[in-house]
Amino acid sequence: MGSEQDPILQAGRGLFLTFEGPDGSGKTTQVRLLAKWLRTRDLEPVLLRQPGSTALGERIRGILVDSRGEAAVGAIAPLAELALMFADRAQQIAEIIRPALAEGRVVVCDRYTDSSEAYQGAGRGLGSDRTLAVHRAICDDFQPDLTVLLLPDADLALERARKRNEQFQREHGGANENRFEAEGEAFFRRVHAAYAAIAEREPERVLRLGDGSVEEIAAAIQKSVEAKLRISSGS
Ligand code: TYD
Repeated sequence: MGSEQDPILQAGRGLFLTFEGPDGSGKTTQVRLLAKWLRTRDLEPVLLRQPGSTALGERIRGILVDSRGEAAVGAIAPLAELALMFADRAQQIAEIIRPALAEGRVVVCDRYTDSSEAYQGAGRGLGSDRTLAVHRAICDDFQPDLTVLLLPDADLALERARKRNEQFQREHGGANENRFEAEGEAFFRRVHAAYAAIAEREPERVLRLGDGSVEEIAAAIQKSVEAKLRISSGS
């Protein structure tokens, strides 16, 4: 936690930030850089990933993300996949996110409901309406203060994802074990298009970035987070 002079803590209200993007979009690097920057401001962030981060969530992750998990349970029906993503999310909101925000913490979550809309809604074809209806029912429509969407042009993103898979094969001598990264190009393009549509629909919440160097993207993220911190602290 930050010092006593910390304006966010004084205001007693935290900040909820999420990171989104297709696999290989550079989220992990940017989450790390933002966390480092927040620490220089005396704000120790609560870092989370979805699915995961709670005991229940990590078990759900083992089933949903790791294809070896699927081998243990058999083929996962798309609606079961959607329900499990939201079971993970509900647990994380109750166990970590809400309590941390009530303490005035900055919560940074690697993926949230936009991922379900993109991957299950568009990728698996379940639809945005259904996904958002589940979000309302299970998460009380609880949305982040800011979502950083790392979405380069579709062809560039696809190229990066391909390279990532090749590197994985070279290093691990086998296909990627992430069930989603093993999906084909058509799936990837549906995910990409859904993310672009979300950014257009909710420009206030979603900051779409993607073209530019790692440093340029990091600077743009810091600028937006800085503005949200000011709003959150009321200064
Ligand atoms: P992960 O290894 O964390 O991927 P990345 O590093 O790209 O974030 O795996 C998480 C996978 O889960 C990712 O491929 C997207 C998928 N996912 C969904 O399909 N729906 C969801 O609601 C969430 C949170 C993740």
